[in-house]
Amino acid sequence: MDTFITLEEINQAAEAIRPRLKTVPQVGIILGSGLGALAEAVENPIRIPYGEIPHWPVSTVIGHQGQLVIGELEGRQVMVMQGRVHYYEGYSMAQVTLPVRVMQRLGIPMLFVTNAAGAVNPDFEPGDLMLLSDHLNLLGMAGPNPLRGPNLDEFGPRFPDMSQAYDPQLRHLAREAAQEAGFRLHEGVYVCLAGPSFETPADLRFLRTIGVDAVGMSTVPEVTVARHGGMRVMGVSGISNKANLDGSTITTHEEVLAAGKVMAPRLITLVRGVLRRLGQA
Ligand code: HPA
Repeated sequence: MDTFITLEEINQAAEAIRPRLKTVPQVGIILGSGLGALAEAVENPIRIPYGEIPHWPVSTVIGHQGQLVIGELEGRQVMVMQGRVHYYEGYSMAQVTLPVRVMQRLGIPMLFVTNAAGAVNPDFEPGDLMLLSDHLNLLGMAGPNPLRGPNLDEFGPRFPDMSQAYDPQLRHLAREAAQEAGFRLHEGVYVCLAGPSFETPADLRFLRTIGVDAVGMSTVPEVTVARHGGMRVMGVSGISNKANLDGSTITTHEEVLAAGKVMAPRLITLVRGVLRRLGQA
């Protein structure tokens, strides 16, 4: 059953955070599985456990801590979500995306969203990063779009455009940052599946056929809501494993978390590089 989120609930969550902000953060950052280390790099941090924020969904998954970390990175105020929830945990899409609504209510204009993903593109290796150029909303196409239910007119229109989900200028800055740091940054299409079971070889061959480069279980709901509310979005996947198109290997959550440790330093470098360049965007 759907649980929709009301404007009043969003406001209650925002008011639990607002008094603790020194200024309005310039960027909200969502950290994916095993990528929590970025939150440790935040300077002068204020930490707010999710449990202290009304209506805020709490993750049940290992590898996802549950707190907001608000402070500075590269001289910019950021609000980092160390841990996110997923549809497969049983939350509704509106609950999964409540944090993005709260960011919008607080006046945060930009969202950087990260995830751990499986490589469907055979050129990708575990440990690589992929900048999202677009996504395939396979779940939303078939029903559970996070914007289903009464439209929250305060945030955006009933039928929002999604032609530029991932901000071209932010992508440009990310390419520059990766080049400066000297690592390869792929670009491609991410698909969100419901999970929690990983894909069968037939699933993966299907995904490859329809143009997918990386597969995961998050991000698309948050980005849909971010765009509805007019935020500029950058998305980055950390490739944690190669897709098992012929069924010869198995995929485990432990593997995903171990790859996160390898990718986290590069992801931190990339995010820092983009933040440093933001004045130019
Ligand atoms: N499939 C789906 N989600 C994932 C994967 C995968 O192979 N790796 C990390 N998240």
